Amino acid sequence: MKIGVIMGGISSEREVSLQTGQEMIRHLDRNRYEVVPIVIDRRADLIIQTQQAGIDLALLALHGQYGEDGTVQGALETLGIPYTGSGVLASSLCMNKQLSKRLLKTVGVHTPEGLCWQGTDDYEPQAVKQLGYPVIVKPNMGGSSIGIQLVHNEKELLTAVRKAGSFDQAILIEPYMKGTELTCSIVDGEVLPIIGIRSAHSEWFDYKAKYEPGGAEEKVIQLPPATRQRVREAALASYRLLQCKVYARVDMILCEDVPYVLEVNTLPGMTENSLLPKSAAASGMTFTQLLDRIIASSIL
Ligand code: DAL
Ligand code: MG
Repeated sequence: MKIGVIMGGISSEREVSLQTGQEMIRHLDRNRYEVVPIVIDRRADLIIQTQQAGIDLALLALHGQYGEDGTVQGALETLGIPYTGSGVLASSLCMNKQLSKRLLKTVGVHTPEGLCWQGTDDYEPQAVKQLGYPVIVKPNMGGSSIGIQLVHNEKELLTAVRKAGSFDQAILIEPYMKGTELTCSIVDGEVLPIIGIRSAHSEWFDYKAKYEPGGAEEKVIQLPPATRQRVREAALASYRLLQCKVYARVDMILCEDVPYVLEVNTLPGMTENSLLPKSAAASGMTFTQLLDRIIASSIL
């Protein structure tokens, strides 16, 4: 089978995507697959390069906008090229944090209360005050914590809103919830071991904590059985409601034994420092086996 590893792209997560792609290429089983790296530098590259490469399957190593948000999935559907992971609808829904949070609430999945404004000029500091400081200011659509900031008071707010607004027009503001950051990966309907995260140098799991070696301690967390069950159920309910397929990673904060879902990642990072491969390894799955499973369940 000829596999095109699609990576790079034009989102703010390009560098992370290149690392994901390289890691995938390193671990793909060459006895089973012919591997073609496809690096996207401009939008049109996807269409031109995937068609020229004559691949049987696109292994998506993209993250963020124009990659993880349904646009690439739609283009590949139109070209008739099978691809890994979730389809168009789930990809776009999960990319939009505010919309996915609203949907999650309808099925009783907890998620931090949030305020969302469609533009940086519209936001209301008074409403943020009611939420209570500190708050987390996020670009509504984004990834890898890029553009996200922890804001302690009103003085810091405007700068944070402007910064988040440079990554996406819509701004999401949530109360900062003090608790344990958790992540729950799902592959082919199977919930993998839950990982607990402790950032080494920051108050939350920011870009440095995510990608710099030693930036965070990430290990399988032992939770009381009832809590563990709640975390698994919240992850699966989110995955199913948002119509994810093949694999995803559900990020949460555990506060007083209640998991609050922050977001669902349909193309979670697969770099050397990423969480999903760690969780897979903890369940006894090598990176190569993980890729085999992703590929097999994508072409079912
Ligand atoms: N958005 C990054 C790649 C992640 O979720 O792992
Ligand atoms: Mg994300």
